[in-house]
Amino acid sequence: MDPVEGLKIREMTDSDIAALIQIDKKITGKERVSSWPQKVSSHFKTYYPPLSLVAEVEGRVVGFIMGVIMGAEYSLPLSGWINIIGVDPQYQGRGIGRMLTNSFIEACHRRGIKARLMVRQGDESLKKMLLSLGFQQGDLVDFVRGFPTHKSG
Ligand SMILES: CC(C)(COP(=O)(O)OP(=O)(O)OC[C@H]1O[C@@H](n2cnc3c(N)ncnc32)[C@H](O)[C@@H]1OP(=O)(O)O)[C@@H](O)C(=O)NCCC(=O)NCCS
Repeated sequence: MDPVEGLKIREMTDSDIAALIQIDKKITGKERVSSWPQKVSSHFKTYYPPLSLVAEVEGRVVGFIMGVIMGAEYSLPLSGWINIIGVDPQYQGRGIGRMLTNSFIEACHRRGIKARLMVRQGDESLKKMLLSLGFQQGDLVDFVRGFPTHKSG
């Protein structure tokens, strides 16, 4: 598909939430990445605004990226963590996710920090995008302990 004409990346504002919810509603089924099953409104409440951007075409929001600055966890330096990305399915595959992520990386670099995010192991579409944007797999792993299993008898 053609690149999107007149695409503009700008900082997110409070009034963008309605547009984000609309995009979130459209991203369902196989289009939704396994890393972000929860609704964008919960991310909005928790993480907006410090590193949050939207992609706009002729005044209409067609994509977003939301992040937060966190430090010292797991002996990592202060970093910009991406918490969620979404592109309107009608506009996917036309470079908007790439532009949003690159703008996020630039915003981090202006602050002298690296960009990071956590994704689900099997989330191939997101991994593919990240690798093509120069991200490398880091060295965090998660550990989970399940409920005890009770043997009968
Ligand atoms: C992942 C996502 C952000 C990518 O944005 P996009 O604008 O479609 O991606 P781009 O056109 O910028 O493509 C960037 C790279 O992503 C990868 N990619 C994009 N769509 C893909 C797909 N359907 N399958 C596999 N890889 C894909 C490719 O590596 C591509 O690079 P290439 O064009 O050099 O091959 C977008 O598809 C999306 O919003 N997905 C749903 C995310 C979600 O569930 N969010 C939570 C709910 S809001």
